[in-house]
Amino acid sequence: MSRTVYLNGDYLPEEEAKVSVFDRGFLMADGVYEVTSVLDGKLIDFDGHAKRLQRSLDELDMASPITMEDLLEVHRELVRVNEVVDGGVYLQITRGAPADRDFAFPDPAETPSTIVLFTQSKPGVADSPASRNGIKVISIEDQRWGRRDIKTVQLLYPSMGKMMAKKAGCDDAWMVEDGHVTEGTSNNAYIVKGNKIITRQLSNDILHGITRAAVLRMAKEAQMQVEERLFTIEEAQDADEAFITSATTFVQPVVEIDGAQIGDGTPGMIAKRLREIYLDESRKAGI
Ligand code: PDD
Repeated sequence: MSRTVYLNGDYLPEEEAKVSVFDRGFLMADGVYEVTSVLDGKLIDFDGHAKRLQRSLDELDMASPITMEDLLEVHRELVRVNEVVDGGVYLQITRGAPADRDFAFPDPAETPSTIVLFTQSKPGVADSPASRNGIKVISIEDQRWGRRDIKTVQLLYPSMGKMMAKKAGCDDAWMVEDGHVTEGTSNNAYIVKGNKIITRQLSNDILHGITRAAVLRMAKEAQMQVEERLFTIEEAQDADEAFITSATTFVQPVVEIDGAQIGDGTPGMIAKRLREIYLDESRKAGI
C-alpha cells in the first residue's frame, strides 16, 4: 500500500511527492533531519527531537518552513493516516531549490526551505532479535566532519561504516578518533564497568542523542552511576557490558567488539534493565 508523505505543506501519495534536481539537499547535502520513534501509535520524545531540529537549523542559519507546533500535528497526522503502530517518522529540511547550483547560500526570501516527512512501519521493533541477543561491532576510524553535533544528512561515511561492518560479518561500527570512541554509525556508544555506565561527554564530536539524554536521566533516577568521559576500544573490550542507544534501537546490547567477546558474550544485566526502563517510561510519556 502506498504511504502518504508530507512535502512542503501537502499530504501526497509517495509516488507523487517530487523534489527539484536543484534542491541543495540533493546537490550539497545541505539539509538536516530527525528520526522520531513511534511505539503503540505514539511519538516518543517529540519535544527533544523538535528542540534538536531547531538547534541544527540555527547552527546552519537555515530557515524553518514550519512552526514546531504545526510540526507535531504533521507527525501525528502521518502516523494516523499511515496507521503506524511501531516504527518512526523521518523528517528532513533542506535549504531548498535555488535557480542554479551555487556554493553560496541562496536568499531565504527567494528560496524557501524544502520539508519532507514520511513514516516507516516496523512492527514489533521493541522486541527485535538484535535487542534480545545483542549486536557485534567493529571499530573504524572516524572520518566525518567536525560538527557532528548538527544532525545533517551527510551520511555517506556512516553508510560506508555500516557496510564495512557487514563485510566483517558484524552489525555496526564504532568510530574512533585520537584513540577514543566517538559513537556508533547511527547511535551513541556506552560501556559498563562494575556498576558504572560510561559514555563519551557531549561536544561537537558526537551527536547529542535524544535517547542518550533520556537513558542517562533514567539511569540516574534508578540510582545507577553514570560517568561521561572518553574511553578506548581496549577499555570497551575489557568492560563488563557494552550497549548503544538511538531512536531506532532504543537501548541495544553489544556483545562483541573487534572479535572480542564482552562479558560472557550475552546481553548484560544493566543494558537489559535500562532497555526495560526506557521502553516502559517512553510508552507512558508518548504523545
Ligand atoms: N541516528 N549518533 C549518531 C551519529 C546518530 O545518527 C544517531 C541517530 C544517534 C542517536 O540519536 P537519537 O538518540 O537522538 O536517535 C547518535 C538516527 C536514528 C538515524 O540516523 O536513523
